[in-house]
Amino acid sequence: MIGEVYRLAAARTFVAYQLPSLLQEANPTGNMANKKIALVTGGNKGIGFEIVRGLLQAGCRVYLGAREAAKGQQAAADLAAEGDVRFLEVDLGNQAALAAAAAHLQREEGRLDILVNNAGINAPGDGSPATADVRSVEQVLQTNFLGTLAATQAFLPLVKQAAAGRIVNVSSPLGSLTIVGQHDWALLGYSASKAALNMLTVQLAYELRDTAIKVNSANPGYTATDLNGFAGTDTPAQGAAEAIRLALLPADGPTGTSSSTAGLLPW
Ligand SMILES: NC(=O)c1ccc[n+]([C@@H]2O[C@H](COP(=O)([O-])OP(=O)(O)OC[C@H]3O[C@@H](n4cnc5c(N)ncnc54)[C@H](OP(=O)(O)O)[C@@H]3O)[C@@H](O)[C@H]2O)c1
Repeated sequence: MIGEVYRLAAARTFVAYQLPSLLQEANPTGNMANKKIALVTGGNKGIGFEIVRGLLQAGCRVYLGAREAAKGQQAAADLAAEGDVRFLEVDLGNQAALAAAAAHLQREEGRLDILVNNAGINAPGDGSPATADVRSVEQVLQTNFLGTLAATQAFLPLVKQAAAGRIVNVSSPLGSLTIVGQHDWALLGYSASKAALNMLTVQLAYELRDTAIKVNSANPGYTATDLNGFAGTDTPAQGAAEAIRLALLPADGPTGTSSSTAGLLPW
C-alpha cells in the first residue's frame, strides 16, 4: 500500500531527463570562484549520500555531514573523484558538535548556500497510536524534528550570509495528514516527526519571506535504504532527486512547499 503512493511520487523520467539540465544550469561554467557551498546532513549513506553526489555533479562544494567521523570520512573518500567534497561532523543530538560545525563553516566559507536537512531515523517500537512504544515515538521526534530544528538554528546564520540560500527538509508522504488519513499506515512517531518537520518548513519560509532564502520539504519515494531494511522500491538516486532539485531552485522557485518528483504534495 505504501509502495503504491510512493510509486506515484517517483516520476523516474525526471531523473533521466530533467535533472541533468538542472545540474548544468546550476553551474554552467563550472567556475570555481562561484561554487555554491552546500551541507547535507546524514550524507554518509542512503538518500543523503546521493544528494551529496548530485550536488557535487552540479558543481557545488559539498560538506558531507555525518555523526560518525569514520563513516563520514569513508563516504567523502568514496565521492572524492566526483567533485569537491569534505567531511563535516554533524550530529543532530549534539549541540556542541553543531556549534563547532557552524563555526568551522564560518571560518572556512563565511556562508552556506544550501542546507539539506536529510538525516533521520525510524525507531523499532514505533507503531499505531494504540500500540507504539512512547519512548520510540519520543526518540523519532527527538531526532527527526528537534534535532533538525537544532541543526537549522545552528546553520541559519550562515545561510543568511549567502546571496540566495536554499533550505531543504527531507520529509515523507508519511508526514502528510491528508495522505496518511487515507491509508492504513501506522507509524505514529515517524509520521508525527515528518508532519512537524513540514510545519518547520512552512513557518521558517514565512519567517524568511522578505529574504531570498527558500525553504521547502522534499518527499522521497519508497527508497531502498537502511531505514526500511532495503525494502523500498526506488533507488537512493531516485530518492535524492527532488531534494537536489529544491536545493538548486532558481530565484523564481517556490518557498514553503512540500513536493515529490511528481509535483506538490498535500499537507
Ligand atoms: N527510505 C525511504 O523510503 C524514505 C522515504 C521518505 C523519506 N525518507 C527520509 O530520507 C532521509 C534519509 O533516510 P534514508 O532512507 O537515506 O535512511 P538511512 O540510509 O538510514 O540514512 C539516514 C542518515 O541519517 C543519519 N542520522 C541518523 N540519526 C542522526 C543523528 N542523530 N545525527 C546525524 N545524523 C543522523 C544516519 O547516520 P548513521 O549512518 O550514523 O546512522 C544516516 O546517514 C530521512 O530523513 C528519511 O526519513 C526516507
